[in-house]
Amino acid sequence: MKFFIDSASISEIKEANALGLLDGVTTNPSLVAKEGVSFHERLREITSEVTEGSVSAEVISLDAEGMLREAKELAAIAPNITVKVPMTLEGLKAVKALSDLNIKTNVTLIFSANQALMAARAGASYVSPFLGRLDDIGHNGVDLIAQIAEIFDRHAIDSEIIAASVRHPVHLTEAAINGAHIATVPFKLFEQMVKHPLTDQGIEKFLNDWNNQK
Ligand code: E4P
Repeated sequence: MKFFIDSASISEIKEANALGLLDGVTTNPSLVAKEGVSFHERLREITSEVTEGSVSAEVISLDAEGMLREAKELAAIAPNITVKVPMTLEGLKAVKALSDLNIKTNVTLIFSANQALMAARAGASYVSPFLGRLDDIGHNGVDLIAQIAEIFDRHAIDSEIIAASVRHPVHLTEAAINGAHIATVPFKLFEQMVKHPLTDQGIEKFLNDWNNQK
């Protein structure tokens, strides 16, 4: 499983990239709004200064025509822009048209296996099931990853599964075990995942022993 960062903060994206394990970035309108910057300017910054990996940028139109217009503007910013499209009937039409134009798409707000299958068949490069938001309403987000992975495998579908809305380290382990190709991770989770009390204790003991050598 690869790692993307789920953030529109340039400092977080740069810091995660410096870890050497980052393959891409996802943003959404809420993350961009939090930053209070020009969306296109921020995308230019990310694509020119930080990563050649996929950078998902979401459209806000609700009709296919509007989505396509926005998508073409976003895709013109850099070759590694992936257009993020919501999982609706209009979204599917836009995905098909963008796939015909060889523009990559990430279908977002996926909450069922059928939605993922439809998005993939419309030509989505990526599908994004939202684990945390499913868990929030008493469902099991990880089970959805397993279902989608099995369906894609059985039917030789090559759309990639991005585990999204991940909230804690266990989500990441389970997403990887259950077949997600990618997880998009909030910055603070990278810090949480690297931590283990035995690692910290081990470092402290090695340093003490080194400093107290005769
Ligand atoms: C990813 O593409 C989504 O933008 C993101 O993971 C949503 O996460 P949230 O449910 O924590 O807002």
